[in-house]
Amino acid sequence: MADTPATTERHSPTDSLIRFENVHKRFGSLVVLNGISIDFSVGQTAVVLGPSGTGKSVLLKHIVGLLSPDSGQVFFRDTRIDNLTERQLEPIRKRIGFLFQLSALFDSMTVGENISFPLREHGILSRSEIRDRVAERLAMVGMENSEKKMPGELSGGQRKRVALARAIALNPDVVLYDEPTTGLDPIRSDVINELILKLHEELKVSAIVVTHDMASAFKVGDRLIMLMGGSIIADCDPDGLRAHPDPRVQRFIAGRADEEDLRALHRL
Ligand SMILES: Nc1ncnc2c1ncn2[C@@H]1O[C@H](COP(=O)(O)OP(=O)(O)OP(=O)(O)O)[C@@H](O)[C@H]1O
Ligand SMILES: [Mg+2]
Repeated sequence: MADTPATTERHSPTDSLIRFENVHKRFGSLVVLNGISIDFSVGQTAVVLGPSGTGKSVLLKHIVGLLSPDSGQVFFRDTRIDNLTERQLEPIRKRIGFLFQLSALFDSMTVGENISFPLREHGILSRSEIRDRVAERLAMVGMENSEKKMPGELSGGQRKRVALARAIALNPDVVLYDEPTTGLDPIRSDVINELILKLHEELKVSAIVVTHDMASAFKVGDRLIMLMGGSIIADCDPDGLRAHPDPRVQRFIAGRADEEDLRALHRL
């Protein structure tokens, strides 16, 4: 069960943006989510932490219907979404920006085409509006005038920024960031952290950030959730996490291996 911290801000039920109710997910004999219940609120930047392979990406994929639970329910605002068809999911997906773990850009398309892809897909803007929106979103991520570039010409950090511009192209209610700083040096990681904060301010967008970068977590998150062994073992504000009594949380924050971690390493 999740810890109930005294310090976490409370929201009324109408502030609920994304809600998991007792979600179970396994792949074969591997139990990944073992009865997850969590409520992400409007306006929050929630960070989901946890070791590699613990189900963080699996959790995000349930929000956009790329995976569905074996049991339990997922809601977007008041709509139950885990049992919707692809077509029924479309209006929900439009309201969610997803920055994938590998910032999968289409390599055969220009930067401009990559960002305008969701706009063209949903056919909601004219050509000139699309052009303006692309330029505006590129400026927001500090990549102005790079419409004509190909993804292959970009550095890892620039690719992430373009992927982020694409994720916010449709003015989403919430952006899901899957490991936005992985593979970047500390300076470029911090640029992404600053962007996450800026988008939160300028677009008033809610966010769920999956990471194992503690510096990033403490910088961007107003709520920190730790997933381990299929369960939520911590759910609190940054100070609450720093002072958390669970030794597994403290080990994770400090990046300290315990005896079990070392035994696992010897088995590799
Ligand atoms: N489609 C799938 N089919 C089978 N197993 C899967 C599938 N997706 C994920 N898994 C398994 O579920 C577990 C959790 O995966 P997940 O990608 O959510 O981990 P993660 O916490 O995001 O890890 P990382 O920090 O390395 O990205 C892993 O053991 C993974 O191999
Ligand atoms: Mg992952």
